[in-house]
Amino acid sequence: MKHFTLLLLALPVAFACGRDGTASELPAGARAQDQAACGTPASAETLRIMEGLKPHCEGCHAQGARGYFASANAFQSLLVSDARLVKAGSPDDSELIRLLEGRGSAAFKQMPIGEKSYAQLVSDGTATLPVAEVRAWVQGLTTQQRDARPDPAAPRITRLSATQAQRALYQQLGLTHEDFFVIAKEFGIPMAESRGDDLYPLQPPDAVPAPRQNPTAERFYGLGGGSVMNQTSPDRSTSPTFALTLTQVSQRWCRLSLAKVGNVALFPAGTRRTADPTDVKATLRRWSLHFLGERFTDAQVDALYADVFVPLSTPTDTEPAYVGVCSYFIRHPHWIFY
Ligand code: HEC
Repeated sequence: MKHFTLLLLALPVAFACGRDGTASELPAGARAQDQAACGTPASAETLRIMEGLKPHCEGCHAQGARGYFASANAFQSLLVSDARLVKAGSPDDSELIRLLEGRGSAAFKQMPIGEKSYAQLVSDGTATLPVAEVRAWVQGLTTQQRDARPDPAAPRITRLSATQAQRALYQQLGLTHEDFFVIAKEFGIPMAESRGDDLYPLQPPDAVPAPRQNPTAERFYGLGGGSVMNQTSPDRSTSPTFALTLTQVSQRWCRLSLAKVGNVALFPAGTRRTADPTDVKATLRRWSLHFLGERFTDAQVDALYADVFVPLSTPTDTEPAYVGVCSYFIRHPHWIFY
C-alpha cells in the first residue's frame, strides 16, 4: 500500500516536465518545486549563441552523442549543461571557449576542425558571432541543471532496411540470387532476368547486374529500399506498404525455401518434417532461435502451434502450416526491429 501511494505521488512529477525543460500542467507551487527535476531550459541568449555558432559546427555535430546542434534541446542538454564543456560563470575553465580560441586541452585543439580556429574565422569575417560574446554568455550563465530523463521521442530502435531484410531472408531461408534470376544481356550488358514474378523476386534497382523487370525493384521499394540512380530515398518507417510487402514476400519465400531440393536451412539433417506435434514443436523451438535468436518458452511454442500451425494444417498437407509459422517469425517484431 505504502509503495503504491509513493508511486502515485511520483507519477505526476515524472510527467510534469515539458521537453523544453519547463514544468507544465502543474499548479504554480508544485511547478517551482519540480523545476529542479527538469533540465534548465535554454535561455534566449543561449539560443542566440547557438544560432551564431551553428553554421560552423552543425556539419559535424547534427547527430549522435555529439549532436549539439541538432536542436535547441540538444544544444542545451549535451553542451550547455555539461560542466566538462561549459563551466557556468567561468569562460576560462570552459573547454568550449578553449576550443573556439584554438587552445583545447584534449585530443582536439580547436573547433571547428580545419585550418582556422573559430576565433580566426571571426577575425577574417567568415564567422559573425565574436568569441567575446560567447565568453560573456558563459560568464552570465548560472549553474545548469541537466535533464537526466531519456527523451521519450528519441528513436531507440529501428527496423531492418530493405537490403538487410533481403540478405537475412536469403541466409535464413537458404535462398540465393540464382533462385530468382538468370543472367541475360541487354546491348551486351549483363542484366538479372527474373525467373518469373510469381517467385516474388526482389532486387535493388542499383544492383549489379541490374534487375531487368520492374516489379523486382518495386518490391524493393515496397520494403522501403531506396535508389541513388532513381533518386528514391530509403524509408525506414513501418508503413502499411512495408507490412504488406513483407507479408507477401515472407510467405512466398518460405514456400520456396521448403520446396527447394536439398535445402537444409529450415530442416537440417536429422530433423523431422511431419505433422506429429512433438516434431512440429521441436521445429518451432528451433526456428525461434534461427529467426529471432531467442529461445521460445514451452508456453510460447504451444500457443504458436495451436494458433498458427493447427488451423493451417490438413491431414494430407503440412506445407501451408509450415509456411504459416515460418512467415510468422519473419513478421515478428523481433525480426523486423533491432
Ligand atoms: C569538420 C568536423 C567538425 C566541425 C566543423 C566541428 N567539430 Fe566539434 N568535433 C569534431 C570531432 C571529430 C570531435 C571529436 C569527436 C569525438 O571525440 O567523438 C569533435 C568534438 C567536439 C567537442 C567535444 C570536445 C571534448 O573534448 O569532448 C565539442 C565541444 C565540439 N566538438 C564543439 C564544436 C563546435 C562548437 C564547433 C563549431 C564552432 C565544432 N565542434 C565544429 C568535428 C567537428
